[in-house]
Amino acid sequence: MARTRRPLIAGNWKMNGLCADGVALARELVALIKGRPKPAFDMVVCPPFTVIGEVGKAIAGSPLALGAQDCHAAAKGAHTGDISAAMLADRGCRFVIVGHSERRTDHGETDAEVKAKAEAVVGAGLTAIVCIGETESQRDAGKTLAVVKAQLAGSLPAKASAANVVVAYEPVWAIGTGRTPAADEVQEVHALIRARLADAVGAGEAARLRVLYGGSVKPDNARALLSLPDVDGGLIGGASLKSRDFWAIAESCL
Ligand code: PGA
Repeated sequence: MARTRRPLIAGNWKMNGLCADGVALARELVALIKGRPKPAFDMVVCPPFTVIGEVGKAIAGSPLALGAQDCHAAAKGAHTGDISAAMLADRGCRFVIVGHSERRTDHGETDAEVKAKAEAVVGAGLTAIVCIGETESQRDAGKTLAVVKAQLAGSLPAKASAANVVVAYEPVWAIGTGRTPAADEVQEVHALIRARLADAVGAGEAARLRVLYGGSVKPDNARALLSLPDVDGGLIGGASLKSRDFWAIAESCL
């Protein structure tokens, strides 16, 4: 069946790599993507803040897009150590991940804060990759769908559209663990997300809005997960740090 949405393969490098590592990885990806003149997917890398400028230079002029892993909700001001969406746009970013479970856990970010960040991203003309997903105990208690529904409702920016928002469903217990839900479980959650998006932004827009799966996507399970009807690509952590693995995951979308 032909895809109605162009897949997005997003690499979340997390807190990994110094400048030389990031530039080397970016160059490898540029070489791979240039070897495929009309890729059937979009690809974005989200390096640590310190490396964004150099990676931006390394991928300039290539189809690879640049993203960031977080931003502050305010446009500017007295927020020591924080980075605004406008600053990221200034460095060439087109995407910003918001509400990753590691931010929600390590920094206690709430849905309301994630929504405010997503609105800042959209306000800066960028696309927010809004992350949601249940913990293992929530899943065990049969609350997966309720948790995902509530997080989506609480985290989506007010003016969400297919052009400025991507949703990433990432079960917390699947991140970095090598474990994933079964394919039918992933599809069930994605179908629910799509239905809730239709309520929030209208059916037409929801049909165009990309919903990624994240959590232990690897070359050997990518095809099974990324070919599901409501899965429009992946948010990739560990495997995005190896160009061959990241590329193999992207190619599984063909
Ligand atoms: P993982 O991370 O691919 O290493 O499980 C995914 C993520 O946290 O976005």
